[in-house]
Amino acid sequence: MTRFSISRSNTPLRGTLAVPADKSISHRAAIIASLADGATRIENFLPSTTTHATLDCLRALGAEIEHITPTTLTVRGHGLRSLREPGNILFCQGSGTTMRLLAGLCAGQNWVSILDGTPALKRRPMARIIEPLSAMGAMILARANNQLPPLAIRGGNLRGIDYRLPIASAQVKSAILLASLFADSPTTIREPGPSRDHTERMLQACGVELQIANGTLRMNPAAQLEIPGSQFVIPNDFSSAAFFIVAALLIPQSELRLVNVGVNPTRTGLLDVLTQMGARIVVENQREQAGEPIGNIIVSACDDLRGVEIGGDLIPRMIDEFPILAIAATQARGETLVRDARELRVKESDRIATLAHELRALGAQIEERADGFVIAGPTPLRGARVFAHNDHRLAMSLAIAGLLARGDTIIEGWECVADSFPNFAEMLEQLR
Ligand code: S3P
Repeated sequence: MTRFSISRSNTPLRGTLAVPADKSISHRAAIIASLADGATRIENFLPSTTTHATLDCLRALGAEIEHITPTTLTVRGHGLRSLREPGNILFCQGSGTTMRLLAGLCAGQNWVSILDGTPALKRRPMARIIEPLSAMGAMILARANNQLPPLAIRGGNLRGIDYRLPIASAQVKSAILLASLFADSPTTIREPGPSRDHTERMLQACGVELQIANGTLRMNPAAQLEIPGSQFVIPNDFSSAAFFIVAALLIPQSELRLVNVGVNPTRTGLLDVLTQMGARIVVENQREQAGEPIGNIIVSACDDLRGVEIGGDLIPRMIDEFPILAIAATQARGETLVRDARELRVKESDRIATLAHELRALGAQIEERADGFVIAGPTPLRGARVFAHNDHRLAMSLAIAGLLARGDTIIEGWECVADSFPNFAEMLEQLR
């Protein structure tokens, strides 16, 4: 286990920063390119433990993947029906996105696959994908009464379903959409709230008939996928930018420009919340790149943040940003209340419990709720020894807290940062 030490910094964060590529879109680009016919060039791919897990699994399924640089790949697929039965277990590392999306893909195939992962992934709930994929006709077995990995899938001969998602989850939605490519009739998915829509955008761009209206998706099975221009260019990850957005807000006299960041509205709930808290954040030069909105985010320090209430449809639009939002809330005047966010309990860690535990160690006032938390601020933070709980977003949020805390903060279990942002520490160092 590695550790990261950080101490208080009054040096304003200034300048221009390009955070790494979007994790969600990197997974999807590799998967969809593997199903196309011919070579696809993927530029600005995220090199991380989770996305590499997806690449390794896709290779085991027959895709030819070549790294030109760590961030530029060529993926050669041989058409929608060309994947082959893997000779070994598909090992998804700690990546929930890899397991859930590939389960959807494998459900469409007329053979057997077994998906497994690290002990942390073995604790993540899988009934949410097993249920709809089984309704489509796949045979899936899993541990603990069909709820936990590993998964054994015998796929093929799928039929379309009309399915109401019990939770707003892009991973579940994407698993169903990928399986629906191989079904013999259209599929309808009804979403309870707006989760990230990268899979929909990509499939539509590749010619799949997919209509979306008022939270209902209707998709036809496909014969082939045509990748526009045979290339994907991945935007930079809003969820990685989020750490620097909050750091710049909280460190006096900071002004940061984060370039080429994905600003898909299903991802940017944090901007709405910070604005409501009193921050001034501008998105400049907004444009489309490969079907996704991107822009430059300009953020400057704000010494007058106010607490807010967050719930409902905002939750899925900022589902990965609660650890860093919590750091901002410790410095805001009044109470910040998060509700309707029970899903946080089944992320890389139980983010309600781990946040409460580690933030308390730093001197924050945080109360755990079944479906969220309440933070009272502003509170001065003090350095402490804290633990990342194998959760990359918690680790990086604690590092930003460490910049504000008096004394030294030591984060144990720092290696998990490589799941989404391997060069986070170097990037932070460059700015200080
Ligand atoms: C992701 C969807 C979200 C998110 C995860 C990545 C994706 O999970 O938390 O980090 O790439 O589809 P859920 O679908 O479980 O909400």
